[in-house]
Amino acid sequence: MMAQVGKPKEIQARGKNGPVKNMLKEWFPKAQSPFIISAPMLGVANGSLAAEVSKAGGIGMVPGGLDFNPGSAQLVALGAELTKAREILGLVDQPREPLPVGVGFILCHESLTQFEETALPILKEHLPRAVWLFAPPADAEDGLVRGIIAALHASGFVVIFQVGNVAAARQAALDGADVIVAQGIDAGGHQFVRGSGVVTLVPEVMSMLEDEFSDREIVLVAAGGIVDGRSVAAALALGAEAAVMGTKFIVAPEAWTPDARRKLILETKDGGVSTAKSSFYDQFQNSTVWGELYDGRAIIGDPYLDHVAGLPLEESQRRFLEARDTGDVSQLITWVGAGVGLVKDAKPAADIVNEVREEAKQRVRYLARASSDF
Ligand SMILES: Cc1cc2nc3c(=O)[nH]c(=O)nc-3n(C[C@H](O)[C@H](O)[C@H](O)COP(=O)(O)O)c2cc1C
Repeated sequence: MMAQVGKPKEIQARGKNGPVKNMLKEWFPKAQSPFIISAPMLGVANGSLAAEVSKAGGIGMVPGGLDFNPGSAQLVALGAELTKAREILGLVDQPREPLPVGVGFILCHESLTQFEETALPILKEHLPRAVWLFAPPADAEDGLVRGIIAALHASGFVVIFQVGNVAAARQAALDGADVIVAQGIDAGGHQFVRGSGVVTLVPEVMSMLEDEFSDREIVLVAAGGIVDGRSVAAALALGAEAAVMGTKFIVAPEAWTPDARRKLILETKDGGVSTAKSSFYDQFQNSTVWGELYDGRAIIGDPYLDHVAGLPLEESQRRFLEARDTGDVSQLITWVGAGVGLVKDAKPAADIVNEVREEAKQRVRYLARASSDF
């Protein structure tokens, strides 16, 4: 006799007491579903890119950097980029109207203790709707991150926290994050050394939020390897309420991407073979800021191949300094995600948002139609 198949638990949106409301629509009323967020990519994204994304119904992020020292060049530049975003969004005449963009900060810098004195005033002056935080240091002083989140909340900012594993997601929720970005290891740029792919990470973070934070309306977002409507639809199917794309926007004309690098990205295929996740890239660039918790994914180029072949680190670092002066991209690091093979043309940011959103809708509708055969 055939075994009886048990009736599965009904799937619904997250929340034990009924579906959790997707707060993104409240915080960003002009954003359109399915929500697409552009990543705050330091050195690549900027106020123009973020504003164009938001204008097209996405949610744009402006990178704010990691240096919170007084007079930090990154913070000065952030102010200028937020001014540009306000112009593009047509809100210059309404200086107290929140900007429908976010600002992304990297936390693993020794100057983090000065965040409230240096970064917060700039945020309060320019009023981005949200602040995105990523990569607290391994040895962060107890309560420091929680204090920063509390200070951001006290000034009315929505707090987005990007994490790469379930433990870090739990900590971000405990610290008060409103939005958790679950960043899988397909992601471009820096990420958790100890992480997993979005297919496992997003559902496990979702279950953790259901089990441990059912009284909170924490928004769950997916990042890492998302480059088209199919992957946005997949992120939604996994339980995410929005999808972040970084790599897809690096080639947009608004991004600060040198043409040689744009060409390299557009020509690179098969991300599993052509990119690697490694801590070598930071060693190569002589950067110690990221510490032991984070590494990064980039295109496998000569520096990585020479390293694997045994070139001493000092010689690699010498070549890096030389290439930085000459702009030789073959000797520099190009951070991209494993989805790079699907980044085929350099469209304006607004076109990317509109096309990917439409593709995602079509994909979801197709699956809904196909479900009549189930
Ligand atoms: C060039 C580049 C720079 C990045 N810089 C930052 C950053 O400054 N802050 C941050 O939180 N994440 C940064 N990231 C990671 C993104 O937030 C995001 O997780 C990633 O782009 C998602 O994966 P994808 O590139 O496959 O779309 C960067 C990613 C790239 C590719």
